[in-house]
Amino acid sequence: MTDKTYPPTDAMAATAHADKVTYDAMYAHSIADPDGFWRDEGQRLDWITPYTRVKNTSFAAGNIDIRWFEDGTLNVAANCIDRHLATRGDQTAIIWEPDDPNQGAEHITYRQLHADVSCFANVLKAMGVGRGDRVVIYLPMIPQAAYAMLACARIGAIHSVVFAGFSADALAARVNGSAAKVVITADEAPRGGKNTPLKINADKAFDKITTDTAMLVVRRTGGAVAMKDGRDHWLHEMEGQVGNDCPPEPMNAEDPLFILYTSGSTGQPKGVVHCTGGYLVYAAMTHQYTFDYHDGDVFWCTADVGWVTGHSYIVYGPLANGATTVMFEGVPTWPDAGRFWQVCAKHKVNQFYTAPTAIRALMGKGEGFVAGHDLSALKVLGTVGEPINPEAWHWYNDVVGLGRVPIVDTWWQTETGGHLLTPLPGATTTKPGSATLPFFGITPVVLEPETGREIATTEAEGVLCITDSWPGQMRTIWGDHDRFEQTYFTQYPGMFFSGDGCRRDADGYYWITGRVDDVINVSGHRMGTAEVESALVAHRAVNEAAVVGYPHDIKGQGIYAYVSLMAGEAPTEALRKELSEFVRGEIGPIAKPDLIQFAPGLPKTRSGKIMRRILRKIAENDFGALGDTSTLAEPEVVDDLIANRMNRV
Ligand code: WT7
Repeated sequence: MTDKTYPPTDAMAATAHADKVTYDAMYAHSIADPDGFWRDEGQRLDWITPYTRVKNTSFAAGNIDIRWFEDGTLNVAANCIDRHLATRGDQTAIIWEPDDPNQGAEHITYRQLHADVSCFANVLKAMGVGRGDRVVIYLPMIPQAAYAMLACARIGAIHSVVFAGFSADALAARVNGSAAKVVITADEAPRGGKNTPLKINADKAFDKITTDTAMLVVRRTGGAVAMKDGRDHWLHEMEGQVGNDCPPEPMNAEDPLFILYTSGSTGQPKGVVHCTGGYLVYAAMTHQYTFDYHDGDVFWCTADVGWVTGHSYIVYGPLANGATTVMFEGVPTWPDAGRFWQVCAKHKVNQFYTAPTAIRALMGKGEGFVAGHDLSALKVLGTVGEPINPEAWHWYNDVVGLGRVPIVDTWWQTETGGHLLTPLPGATTTKPGSATLPFFGITPVVLEPETGREIATTEAEGVLCITDSWPGQMRTIWGDHDRFEQTYFTQYPGMFFSGDGCRRDADGYYWITGRVDDVINVSGHRMGTAEVESALVAHRAVNEAAVVGYPHDIKGQGIYAYVSLMAGEAPTEALRKELSEFVRGEIGPIAKPDLIQFAPGLPKTRSGKIMRRILRKIAENDFGALGDTSTLAEPEVVDDLIANRMNRV
């Protein structure tokens, strides 16, 4: 079953932006002549000052320098809104579907979007925000989240969206890290029928915010909140004081558009920086080709704008293309597991993009929740975030797509701005579980992990690197260019290291095998094990902690924490609960350990290094093959770990 391949239908190949012949020709051109290829593609945007230079990039040690279209100027909001007004002012730009299905959806036209974003931008200006200033956005999935992003882009401010599921502490760290002038939040965030007190979280964060920062509050539910005089402002009150006229600021192509924090192998999240010109060209182009988006289509990406997927494929890519983009406030399983399909039917969604973890969760609830919804408008189904297991792929294909809708499994990262490996619906024969082939301009290589030598044979297995730059690539880590080089360009000098392992098959298809660093993927969310460890050791009872991932039916990977306690602390169930809640408070619900094992000691080498390989094996319930344990300082701790393991499957 898994060997079966799925070629594009003739109808799809005939109408798509790219069939196989076109893909092959365009890909070859993009690699042979990146300058010429991207010089043309850059024309998909409106430039204030046209660029004369296209690609100026270096991956050389000590000189990691990435610039695209560097002498051009443009404005992202003008490209996502203003330039569409003449031809599609009355077309819906955003369909907002609220959490509660009984509350009606909102259809926001490009003309309304223009007014709302301009007004929002003037509010920010009135609060003293200008070019290059940072604004943190901590909002639920409401239209104001998109307005806030575009308002920043309009005036040249740099936004940093913090997922509303992150804790007050995580929010404070991100505000301090970027010295933001304003934090935008809402009274409450409704999700799955429950309201999260976002403003109260933000208030808590302000106890730890050390920068001179004001707060702008969107009224979403009308729930009671306390406003602090001089610091907090209601958006609707401020909007009453400003007008709707806000000319877009001309920005250099290389001016930062946004910062987005993401987990890495250390305890400190990295502020990934994306810039104005290259990012938008790449987000728009991938949105058009990967989903085969055509004028008039309704596109729905179910991600949250707190992640890069929401940036590129709810807001920037679709709006740059003049699309109708759906923004959904709710969750897939409330009021019931048919919610996604009900929304697809209601808005006649043409392209639907979600994560394998959601597909698995819905698959578990049964086909009944899909049947009965008219999904005949669907033309493309997409997945992102983690490798999709063949069972989930087939369910998506057979039950949701009824075998007639192509699936695009898109591999990319916060760092890459847009898709790097993906099928194109009219061009690529798919294989369940494979992200297939590179997008235009992308040069993947597979390296031997130890030597860094490129494996030149078609069939290969190793680590995945990219040898040359593409326009959507991140430019730096906010405030720490050295760390940018350290993280991505030193392990395999001269190349961008993805952190993923992969296999390339005899057809040249790529199969992502997962992270090769200490990053785990929980429900498609990236989590640094070191981040969870630092949260755990911040608790008074914890002496030491080691965190690893283990296979989890729904989440892909679950979080397994080994904890050794301070002398005198008792390993009780109550403490286990307390530690879980503590991590939730430090980082957020997504970081909550699934399993916590109390251990008198952790397995270490004589030089004191924790042997994670052993901890991973035990967490996977695969302790029969622990490999060489002879270098352990105290081999007997392993027996205790096995005897008291938490994952008995
Ligand atoms: C990591 C990036 C930008 C997408 C959302 C997550 C994993 C992502 C796939 C896929 C296998 C995937 C990788 C990657 N990943 N898409 N289609 N198949 N793995 O972005 O939080 O930056 O995480 O997600 O491990 O490195 P992110």
